[in-house]
Amino acid sequence: MTVLDIFRVFENRKSSRHYLRTPIPDEMIHKIVNAARLAPSAGNIQPWHFIVVQDKQKREKIAQGCIYGKFLSQSPVVIIACGDKQASSRWYAVDTSIALEHIVLAATAYHLGTCWIGMFDEEEIRTMVSIPENFEIVALLSLGYIREKRDFWAKILHTIRPRKKLKDIVSWESYGKTVHKI
Ligand SMILES: Cc1cc2nc3c(=O)[nH]c(=O)nc-3n(C[C@H](O)[C@H](O)[C@H](O)COP(=O)(O)O)c2cc1C
Repeated sequence: MTVLDIFRVFENRKSSRHYLRTPIPDEMIHKIVNAARLAPSAGNIQPWHFIVVQDKQKREKIAQGCIYGKFLSQSPVVIIACGDKQASSRWYAVDTSIALEHIVLAATAYHLGTCWIGMFDEEEIRTMVSIPENFEIVALLSLGYIREKRDFWAKILHTIRPRKKLKDIVSWESYGKTVHKI
């Protein structure tokens, strides 16, 4: 299996909401979560902790508490991204998010699907997997082999993912100066 280069990874990454039940080899999971270790963080504090959940009952319980993440019960892995707010009160969410996106991109390089989940039942998950008080759950991530949906609307939703134009998100030298040589 070929691993994708970084620009192919950016192009190929998309939020996947349908998964095969096929388990992911442990070695691959290790390589993917190791990508988080390599992420930058303010003061190199690395205020993150990632809980890899494979247990079906736990995944189902997590999914129940997610209005927009019912598919977490289908993906063979759910990653709970926790940020240590005591260790880095200003940057824990930023740092943990950067590290989680490393995981996303590493998974994409292995042709796996992911989806960030921002709404969840924090206290239920905290109790279920014993997360200490100093950590906040920053986000959840589904991870698994992508099951391509065949129906028309699913395909449309997966294909049309509008992006703002570059000129609308980048200025040159001062805000609003959008004209550039290239
Ligand atoms: C912080 C964050 C929270 C998100 N929460 C959810 C969610 O709860 N459910 C979901 O289906 N997608 C969620 N998404 C995925 C976005 O909907 C998706 O990234 C966006 O529509 C762009 O599509 P794409 O990822 O396929 O490019 C979230 C993404 C981010 C970054």
